[in-house]
Amino acid sequence: MSDDANNTTPTEPQLLGVLAQFPDAHDLVAAARKTTDEGYRKVDGFSPFPLHGIDEALRAPKTILPWLVFCGGVTGCLVALCLQYYVNGVEFPFIYSGYQFPISAKPIFSLPANIPVTFELIILFSSLTAFFGMFALNGLPKLHNPLFRSERFSRVTNDGFFLWIDAGDDKFDETATSDWLNSIGATSVEPISEVVEGRQVPAFLLAVGAVGAAVALVPPLWVAAAAGTSTSPRLSLWWDMDYQAKFKPQTTSDLFADGRAMRKAPAGTVAWGSLQEQQDQRYFEGIEPDGVAAHRGVPAQFVSAQVEGDAPAEAPPEPNWTKDFPVEVTEELMERGRERFDIYCATCHGKAGYGEGLVTTRALSLNQGTWTRPLSLHDQAVREQPVGRIYNTITNGIRKMPGYRLQVDAEDRWAIVLYVRALQKSQHASLDEIPEELRPKR
Ligand code: HEC
Repeated sequence: MSDDANNTTPTEPQLLGVLAQFPDAHDLVAAARKTTDEGYRKVDGFSPFPLHGIDEALRAPKTILPWLVFCGGVTGCLVALCLQYYVNGVEFPFIYSGYQFPISAKPIFSLPANIPVTFELIILFSSLTAFFGMFALNGLPKLHNPLFRSERFSRVTNDGFFLWIDAGDDKFDETATSDWLNSIGATSVEPISEVVEGRQVPAFLLAVGAVGAAVALVPPLWVAAAAGTSTSPRLSLWWDMDYQAKFKPQTTSDLFADGRAMRKAPAGTVAWGSLQEQQDQRYFEGIEPDGVAAHRGVPAQFVSAQVEGDAPAEAPPEPNWTKDFPVEVTEELMERGRERFDIYCATCHGKAGYGEGLVTTRALSLNQGTWTRPLSLHDQAVREQPVGRIYNTITNGIRKMPGYRLQVDAEDRWAIVLYVRALQKSQHASLDEIPEELRPKR
């Protein structure tokens, strides 16, 4: 370990190179240039900040890292292609190999399908090469550098500019090189030699390390000893999570007396998201709250079919439809209504509401007999409907017409109803309803 292990006579510490300090950045660059011009090659410069031109002055070789990264990328590409070919593309009769997956009669191995994985492995391999290559080329990790032993060198992070000539250089000679450095303006020249003394790790650190390593081995050894060979049940830290009872909601179980695994929802439970509709029946359903109980979500017309039992089912009572708008009627709402109507209704009902929409026109021209012509919105029956009823038609649909509650929100549905009312008025207003100044002059 110490001297007696190598040699009984203390060996001369090996000289590593000489370190020269220069007064400022310009001097350092100039000195570096002169030194390399003189023929030295193993030269390095140190300064507190990056120096322009120092690389070229030091004749620092270009890094080969880009080439390493390129090779990493090519390797990644090949690995990915071979892997995918091996896993999906071929089936060796004897060697263990992957599966051939025929997908929709596509080729078993096709380049386009394999590009994503290839691309990713190219990136992965090249970035790992860049990362570890940088460390390797810089000789990292390095716990200590002999230069740190120079008192002066500690200024290098503040205001020190240093030039280093390595003892490995062909031209190196301790006295000649030092003289040369002095001659080109170095303020100090210092030979740096290998660290020989104090190399042992302190005994207490070794002891702590050894004990720590031994202790760290206990848990994995314990696990390894118990795994596979032990007949006792495995260690359970949280019993409830390993052994708790499990019930599926829709299956029978003996958990509750009635044989269900889950309790029934209390009466009056409201499905998530439909609470509002419970609260404001006028606004959300177009029905007066005191009216006949509404058949939520189901058009009144359909309900009779669902009433169980005795035929002839009585026609369900009409809900008490809201007669006036539960929203403020404004010019803005009307505009919105026109826009929404043109988007959602005009396709079938036509822009004027007579049922001349493009879809209807086309369907009728095909004459397949399957299309129901929408009712004209100017039909006497529709004109007499309360607004709540029209609102319900939009919300839940009616007979052949689908509901629009999912596409059109409540506010917009009222806007559409308002516009439908305006359309109707536009075709059936009496002369008295038209302001004097707007009446046609005869
Ligand atoms: C896919 C085509 C289509 C679209 C879109 C459509 N409707 Fe209808 N609508 C119909 C058909 C078809 C009928 C007739 C239903 C029947 O009698 O079976 C109808 C009937 C109606 C009625 C009369 C209901 C009754 O009480 O008899 C109204 C009012 C109405 N639609 C309004 C609208 C409004 C407002 C929109 C826009 C949100 C709209 N419709 C969108 C096809 C459509």
